[in-house]
Amino acid sequence: MTTLKAQSVLVTGANKGIGLELVKQLINSSVPPTQTLATFWQSSSTQELETLANDHSSVRMIELDVTDSASIQRAVERVEAVLGSTGLNLLINNAGINSHATLENITAEDMMAVYQTNVVGPLLVSQAFLPLLKKAAQALDMEEMSCKKAAIVNITSLLGSITLSQKNFRRAAMYPYRLSKAALNMASTCLSEDLKQYQILSVAIHPGWVQTDMGGKEALVSVSDSVSNLMKLFANLSQCDTGKFLDLEGGELPW
Ligand SMILES: NC(=O)c1ccc[n+]([C@@H]2O[C@H](COP(=O)([O-])OP(=O)(O)OC[C@H]3O[C@@H](n4cnc5c(N)ncnc54)[C@H](OP(=O)(O)O)[C@@H]3O)[C@@H](O)[C@H]2O)c1
Repeated sequence: MTTLKAQSVLVTGANKGIGLELVKQLINSSVPPTQTLATFWQSSSTQELETLANDHSSVRMIELDVTDSASIQRAVERVEAVLGSTGLNLLINNAGINSHATLENITAEDMMAVYQTNVVGPLLVSQAFLPLLKKAAQALDMEEMSCKKAAIVNITSLLGSITLSQKNFRRAAMYPYRLSKAALNMASTCLSEDLKQYQILSVAIHPGWVQTDMGGKEALVSVSDSVSNLMKLFANLSQCDTGKFLDLEGGELPW
């Protein structure tokens, strides 16, 4: 099996769910990153992540609220201090919120809150960490695009697929969440076009319907299965994947 081999990985929303499991599987992989930057925000319960950070010196906890520009900037400064001149290889925009609002009860506040966290957040985080991603890409100048070199992975959802909404809308209307993930998909594609010139890859990946606080107990995929598939996928992403919307097996999803 191919392994990721990225020297540094930053995961947003790493105190629970998919983000926390990503940190666990990164540090237990056969070639673990030298630095795993695990971010949490003010409201987080961080006990499990703190235990991991205490037991593994490669795990650094960094405060980062994706809805707060000042918090993003402080996180960049802390990460820069940790990584020095090496740059950041892989940024995983994982933090997200959902909302079950329907047409009957949707509000502007609800729409804006979800949009702020799921779209504006990942875009501004990507913008802020771009200098560090560029550094990493330059350091591995001769290599093809990959997550080992420099990449942005946006954790999106199947519910953001406009094409598939004709099939799955009745099961989960979720207007704010669907609209936000469709916009995140567009952001991911725009980033891929913009960042090709720097050899930085950008993809949008649906992690499956996962048993987390967000996905619920009835979800189809365990968090450990979802993340072990994500890890394999990250390891295999290459030049030809940039700009795509992928499922857990690396298959292309319709926009
Ligand atoms: N679970 C699924 O079935 C599923 C399916 C498709 C896509 N996804 C996507 O996968 C990603 C992870 O979801 P999950 O299932 O692991 O959900 P989760 O268990 O609810 O975790 C979400 C994470 O995002 C963090 N977060 C929320 N708002 C934040 C903010 N303003 N700044 C920084 N971090 C913030 C949360 O921190 P707190 O705990 O402190 O709030 C938590 O760490 C999300 O983007 C989600 O949309 C999930």
